Amino acid sequence: MSSQDSSDPNKGKRRSSQWYGKADKDGFAHRSWMKNRGLPADQFDGRPIIGICNTWSEFNPCNAHFRDIAERVKRGVYEAGGVPMEFPVFSNSESQLRPTAMLYRNLASMDVEESIRGLPMDGVVLLVGCDKTTPALMMGAASCDLPTLVVSGGPMLNGHYKGQLMGSGTHTWIFSEMVKAGEMTLEEFMSAEQDNSRSAGHCMTMGTASTMASFAESIGIALHSNAAIPAVDSRRYVLAQMAGRRIVDMVKEDITMSSLLKRENFENAIMVNGAIGGSTNAVVHMLAIAGRMGMDITLDDWDRLGKDIPCLVNLMPSGEFLMEDFFYAGGLPAVVRELEGFIHKDAMTANGNTIWENCKDTECYNRKVIFPIDTPFKPNGGIAVLTGNLAPGGAIIKPSAASPNLMKHKGRAVVFESIEDYHERIDDPNLDIDETCVMVLKYCGPKGYPGMAEVGNMGLPSKILKKGITDMVRISDARMSGTAYGTVVLHTAPEAAAGGPLAFVQNGDMIELDVPNRSLHLDVLEEEIDKRKIEWKGFENSFERGYTKMYVDHVNQANEGADLDFLVGKSGTPLMRESH
Ligand code: FES
Repeated sequence: MSSQDSSDPNKGKRRSSQWYGKADKDGFAHRSWMKNRGLPADQFDGRPIIGICNTWSEFNPCNAHFRDIAERVKRGVYEAGGVPMEFPVFSNSESQLRPTAMLYRNLASMDVEESIRGLPMDGVVLLVGCDKTTPALMMGAASCDLPTLVVSGGPMLNGHYKGQLMGSGTHTWIFSEMVKAGEMTLEEFMSAEQDNSRSAGHCMTMGTASTMASFAESIGIALHSNAAIPAVDSRRYVLAQMAGRRIVDMVKEDITMSSLLKRENFENAIMVNGAIGGSTNAVVHMLAIAGRMGMDITLDDWDRLGKDIPCLVNLMPSGEFLMEDFFYAGGLPAVVRELEGFIHKDAMTANGNTIWENCKDTECYNRKVIFPIDTPFKPNGGIAVLTGNLAPGGAIIKPSAASPNLMKHKGRAVVFESIEDYHERIDDPNLDIDETCVMVLKYCGPKGYPGMAEVGNMGLPSKILKKGITDMVRISDARMSGTAYGTVVLHTAPEAAAGGPLAFVQNGDMIELDVPNRSLHLDVLEEEIDKRKIEWKGFENSFERGYTKMYVDHVNQANEGADLDFLVGKSGTPLMRESH
């Protein structure tokens, strides 16, 4: 096999050559079995082998079009002189997987990490879409640190219901509350299902999927315009093909994930998240990805970098438009263009340009969707990080999705000891609650649920909704869907199941939320809290075997990214032993 190619001096010297470059029994075995697909011998002559890590699954409707995307990536890989090899990994389906897709984010990341490490690839393209698939694949790839490129599958087309825009997730909450309030019939509610999901793609609100696609673009690991092109727009296929071409060059230039993503890239992504009013889930996912890369990113960075960033994007759940409108208005590059005075302009991106070179000439075509920095959509876009005796490790709130009049609020706690307790009692006419109360939900964090479910945006009691009240302060150790909204304090750390102070809150306690001063205070004497701590019976769950037991035993708290403790960090791709 020739390894001479003047345009590629490293041909035949890369990782994949440890499999395919050997003239012996092992080399025979690796090549021969692959040739059962009819691959010509020159495919193993030392040219870059590109893994295409695919989260296609018919149980994951957001990613169900990924076979087509993978074919486009393959075209690009071949055009640039590489050899594509598609492989499947666990596909976290937010809409189908119980008890929560987040429980399996870390499992999927292990699948990705071990697949990349164990297989003969020189670079990898990650096909991601539904919420958890983006962080799971990035986490796994980060622990291997090959040249890596993310391709998102794109959002669905806009939903429409009775002539109005309908956002995935967001209108599920709105309509279900309307049914509870007697403003919509059950028949109307059910008839809206198809109107909500008109095409291939992931949720088309600025939920977690769109937020993480934007994250991938703003941090620089995806190509320019990755975030917003609708899944069924022909330009999504063009982007996939260009990604296939680019990853081959990245391998030739040895641009690994860690050589591309520096602290300034992470900081840019935090600022952009503020400007797009991105999902609170981005916080826990970014902390986990940074942890894999050994990058010291903390909750403090989120507050520090996000607090002066206004929300520029008028998209649901905080606003009125959807991702299709966002794309037509200029997409993420138009937002970055507005952030000229904030971002690190020199941060490199995967296409070989800086983020500023990519975005500086972008125009905005619709100022109702993307607002100018001087007259923003909302003054506070970032994630606010709260601390205090109720959240010593921190808790977060998304001010752009909350009610301004509740940003400073003191109220009486109404406590739900589990999500089942909440469901059982929330619509009980005798529940002692009014709109000034603070709803508290326990044991829904990483260990408690387990898997940190998206239940933090507890719906309000019917009797309060019927008064026309649409928001109350809610506090939990859970997450909330990126498509949800409200004055919702999330990710309280340490969680109740880990013995955090949330476990000791009782009905009738006064709780004070002060977002401007970043404080969350349980107004109970310290001695009384200590007494309750001693009386606390602890928290036990019933998982005795399997992945869930491993997860509960090893998961970190939300302020550390909720990764498994033994997965934090990276171990690269050292040469593995032959098996024959
Ligand atoms: Fe997959 Fe929302 S359910 S992105």
